[in-house]
Amino acid sequence: MPVKQCRTFPRVLGAVLLVAAAGISSVGATAPAAAPAPAAAPRPLGQIVPAPASVAPRGAPYAITAATRIRVDEDSRESRAIGDYLAGVLRPSTGHPLPVVDEDKGRGGILLRLSPRDRALGEEGYRLTSGPGGITLTAQRPAGLFRGVQTLRQQLPAAVEADTVRPGPWTVAGGTITDTPRFAYRGAMLDVSRHFFTVDEVKRYIDQLALYKINKLHLHLSDDQGWRIAIDSWPRLATYGGSTEVGGGPGGHYTKDDYKEIVRYAASRYQEVVPEIDMPGHTNAALASYAELNCDGVAPPLYTGTAVGFSSLCVPKPVTYDFVDDVIRELAALTPGKYLHIGGDEAHSTTHEDYVAFMDRVQPVVAKYGKTVIGWHQLTGARPAEGALAQYWGLDRSSGAEKEQVAAAARAGTKVILSPADRAYLDMKYTKDTKLGLSWAGYVEVQRSYDWNPATLLPGLPESGIAGVEAPLWTETVSESAHIDHMAFPRLPGIAELGWSPAASHDWAAYRERLAQQGPRFEALGIGFYRSPQVPWR
Ligand code: ACM
Repeated sequence: MPVKQCRTFPRVLGAVLLVAAAGISSVGATAPAAAPAPAAAPRPLGQIVPAPASVAPRGAPYAITAATRIRVDEDSRESRAIGDYLAGVLRPSTGHPLPVVDEDKGRGGILLRLSPRDRALGEEGYRLTSGPGGITLTAQRPAGLFRGVQTLRQQLPAAVEADTVRPGPWTVAGGTITDTPRFAYRGAMLDVSRHFFTVDEVKRYIDQLALYKINKLHLHLSDDQGWRIAIDSWPRLATYGGSTEVGGGPGGHYTKDDYKEIVRYAASRYQEVVPEIDMPGHTNAALASYAELNCDGVAPPLYTGTAVGFSSLCVPKPVTYDFVDDVIRELAALTPGKYLHIGGDEAHSTTHEDYVAFMDRVQPVVAKYGKTVIGWHQLTGARPAEGALAQYWGLDRSSGAEKEQVAAAARAGTKVILSPADRAYLDMKYTKDTKLGLSWAGYVEVQRSYDWNPATLLPGLPESGIAGVEAPLWTETVSESAHIDHMAFPRLPGIAELGWSPAASHDWAAYRERLAQQGPRFEALGIGFYRSPQVPWR
């Protein structure tokens, strides 16, 4: 993992500089003539990623100082937790105590305010007002407060992300941001099957996703190379099927407690975990673990290569549906979220007839355990269940027929998650010189990743048929956090912006300037990103 690239300031010196600088910026032009120029002006309001829906700069900034308090409604456990989270971001770099107190204790400071009557803000919207007297963040729901906290974070200098005291000043430009997302589903997928990632590595990614207002963490938990979640009724799935990975490394799996911890941590960042068990193809790890799941009753060996399309559950065998029922029941019980992803891609070793029959039997099992089906878009070649979502992973420049099948399903009620591989796949190489990644969908530089419109990707698909966007990261070549950093950054923020920001704000020239300003923030966070020449990094 890359080392944090930040300079350490002695705590006392940092604090002195902070008080001095804060004095200048909050009082305005009262500095003595001979004083050195005050530190840079605050970041202009709204110059963040994703771009906010509405920005109205006005008046003087607010400066976070040693006197600042974070005020919350102490009767709301979630408000309190979000206040603690914000304090946890701000304290190490500012060096200020930033006590989290009840909203009735004093005035000013940073007020996190839940306002159930602010219906227009919806599930995740917020309003941030900033001025010399303080900052007020208002949301109808806690998730909105959390998203607003990310905006507040990004309005502050990048050094706020450092884990040692920095000089500041910690000013937030004056004015009002009113912000709600374009799409309700804004996901990132991590393939923990091709290579296994520890709970801590997943948490690190969750924290990175939070900064860009991602709200779904899709975990690809099973594939040919590894089964990553403990299932009590079929224990060898994890203990044997999870015992290796691409390249033959040791693999691993999540115990149920591990998995619950991931779900809990994601929830604390207002991300819903979407677990995927890929079926009926991509199942070699399961087939290797239990001979009876194979049509011929013979278990194949574990697989550590990167081919696809060679495995299938045995569609005619009754035991297949005992297996599916048990797995979905146990996984649904671990999953507070709404969705359960059943894969369905690249079932090249399953006949079409068997594929349709399998999906007809499996989708009702998901419903029986209270979850909503998501499938890769091949599901639209079968009969998607009522309410199911289809995840389009074909190319943007794909033939009309594939796109039309998905658009037709959408017109019939199956909403679509857009993950066009030649735009949104974070595992595609940026250029021919990118060491990690694959290139079957072509090279995907930062502009290509950002510069498309979800509303026009699939002709004949109305925007109302789009649930949202997701950036998948497949991990055939990706095996550690530093690799995730390099492939996800800086493309992930662009997909996040496509999911959050209004279509009218879409503009590559403006976006790349805002993205460039994220560079120092990536550095302060220790994110080893790809310095794309398309972005004017400072
Ligand atoms: C996929 O990339 N096979 C969904």
